[in-house]
Amino acid sequence: PGSATGATGLLGPTVYAHRGASAYAPENTLEAIDLAMRLGFDWVENDVQRTRDGELVVIHDDTLARTTDVEQVFPDRKPWRVKDFTAAEIARLDAGSWFSPRFAGARVPTLRAYMERVQQNRQRLLLEIKKPELYPGIEEQTLELLDGLGWLDENHVARRLVVQSFSADSVRIVHRLRPDLVTAFLGTPTVADLPRYAEFTDRINPWHTTISADWVKAVHGLRGAHGKAMEVDTWIVDDAPTARKVREMGVDGIITNAPDVVRGAVGGF
Ligand code: G3P
Ligand code: CA
Repeated sequence: PGSATGATGLLGPTVYAHRGASAYAPENTLEAIDLAMRLGFDWVENDVQRTRDGELVVIHDDTLARTTDVEQVFPDRKPWRVKDFTAAEIARLDAGSWFSPRFAGARVPTLRAYMERVQQNRQRLLLEIKKPELYPGIEEQTLELLDGLGWLDENHVARRLVVQSFSADSVRIVHRLRPDLVTAFLGTPTVADLPRYAEFTDRINPWHTTISADWVKAVHGLRGAHGKAMEVDTWIVDDAPTARKVREMGVDGIITNAPDVVRGAVGGF
């Protein structure tokens, strides 16, 4: 296995199970990270948001409609925003049946429960702070929770945790609060803009359709917030030809719903 601060080209790219092994189990559930573990993947990716009563939960969309049975359980609460529901209400929802009846009863995990399972599975986490503009202070709250669970000690910070966001402001806040943490900005800044990002982050994680070998090279040519060459982890690559293509462009990591497919195509760990 590689470290959080340096992929090793010889072993292939780092392969991240996006929202868990989400091609085969309902995204962002404990079932999806357990499956990633059984398939042999220790890096998992998730999305963190916050409930009305201040609990951090793991879910991708800012509404509960797509990935739970909220419309049946709370028909009058349209548009079913995560931030309008309490943790107890969300805990009642089925987050598995929409994917397959085999996963009936899966839940939207609290971040605390999720972290405990990641720890138990000896996995590593690419944690995304999702839609931070909806949740003032979520960066600090997330770091406090991680700290309380022992996830900000030297070992976790060096090898087991990366925090990312589409919001440059959010990444900047995380870097300011915990300068030792490895962070990533989600997006594709122009080559001219990259040096501004290098001041506060270590990685640039772009959508795979937006990159070229030259762009990847430009990122690698910069030193990030920790003084090391910046890295690129690209998403969401679920087929072998695309995995080979981005590998040839020189990316360090591939974030995928189907980690077994990517490993089959390009190796990786
Ligand atoms: O980890 C990268 C990827 O998760 C970004 O997009 O929408 O799936 O959170 P999204
Ligand atoms: Ca994500």
